[in-house]
Amino acid sequence: MAHVRSLFFDGPLTEVENKSVAAYKLGRPSEVIWNITNRCNLLCEHCYMAADGHALPDQLSDEETIDLVDQMAASGVPLLFLTGGEPFMRPNFWEILARAREHGIRVTISTNCTFIDRDVAKRLKEHGIGYIGTSLYGPADFHDDMVRVPGTRDRVVEAIKILREEGVGVALKTAVNTDTWPHIYDLIQEAKDLDCGLIYLCDLIVSGRSEGEEDGRITADQWRELADFIADDIIDPESKLEYDIGAMPSFIPYVAEKLIARGYDLSRGLERLKIMSACPVGKGHMNINSEGGVMPCQFAQDWTVGNIKEMSLAEATRELFKLADTPTTGICAEENCEYAQICRGCRVKAFHEYDDPFGQDTTCILKSAGDKVLHTSRHESPSAALPCSGPVCG
Ligand SMILES: C[S@@+](CC[C@H](N)C(=O)[O-])C[C@H]1O[C@@H](n2cnc3c(N)ncnc32)[C@H](O)[C@@H]1O
Ligand code: SF4
Ligand code: SF4
Repeated sequence: MAHVRSLFFDGPLTEVENKSVAAYKLGRPSEVIWNITNRCNLLCEHCYMAADGHALPDQLSDEETIDLVDQMAASGVPLLFLTGGEPFMRPNFWEILARAREHGIRVTISTNCTFIDRDVAKRLKEHGIGYIGTSLYGPADFHDDMVRVPGTRDRVVEAIKILREEGVGVALKTAVNTDTWPHIYDLIQEAKDLDCGLIYLCDLIVSGRSEGEEDGRITADQWRELADFIADDIIDPESKLEYDIGAMPSFIPYVAEKLIARGYDLSRGLERLKIMSACPVGKGHMNINSEGGVMPCQFAQDWTVGNIKEMSLAEATRELFKLADTPTTGICAEENCEYAQICRGCRVKAFHEYDDPFGQDTTCILKSAGDKVLHTSRHESPSAALPCSGPVCG
């Protein structure tokens, strides 16, 4: 995750970014993404959590969730994302939220918005929620097909309007894949029209219900086109929209190159990236799932460093920090890429492709020459570095 505007310039999330960096420097988690339940009332065809109507059998008890929030406070967690599944479907959702807020933790809720009416929006505001994130994928029929429940899109848009009226910020999120690609620029415009401060664009994660769907990813050329559009937008004085890019860390050095070529001084953002790379794995980012599993990233539910029922949050933090010590390999190795330190490539994609989280990221948009990405066969050795054809090694 990387907030492009706030990273390179003064943006709406510069302060949050600074807090995350400060926490990381102190050896604390910089942010925790917590899937508090795997239950969901929708059945999105791409869901990396494969969420459905059922809670997982070993999910944390209510007591364990509150203890976990207390541990987060003791560990100095500055930023907590409550997600799922659909977080509002966890019966003690409000108890978790209230406890986190009592501790002064900044909380963002990632929700499909179907449980949000005016009363809920007011209640969220009372709890000091600055932002919620919610998902839109395209026009009504398309969106409703994708989430497999008719009428959902209209409810989401209605909820966004209510939230904005009640003074709660909204981040629009979408999964970028070959199906949603024709709608991406309209969604960016819609984020502006609906007064959303941020749009989160996440490359397709090939796990859960998207397992094995690598061909559903858009091409590197399409990502570059999108990056060029966003680079233009963040230097447009009329535009205030923040962009957050998921699972595509090479987007950051790509945009940096474009802006530097136009004469912008990005030294502050690049210095920050030397501390916390564009891929946040091992850099204070922590995911905890509904059963207490601790992962370096929410997108790899099978890459776990332990379970919070058996280890403290402080121990989990130390385990995750160790992941930053292992050098990346292949095209992402320091000898092959001048951006290895500030980018590191998507560690989850390497994990899924090679069963090696430190392997190369074959979706790099700086090093892919043309149409698709630098595809190697699944589980091919990452030590077989691919030739660099892009500007990085140029
Ligand atoms: C897992 S959902 C949980 C929160 C809430 N239920 C929602 O849908 O917004 C969080 C976000 O992950 C995104 N997402 C789910 N599966 C994905 C995948 N395979 N690739 C990329 N993003 C995905 C969803 O589109 C959503 O924006
Ligand atoms: S993406 Fe969100 S709304 Fe859709 S099934 Fe998964 S958890 Fe539910
Ligand atoms: S080669 Fe790897 S580290 Fe270098 S820019 Fe591409 S994804 Fe990032």
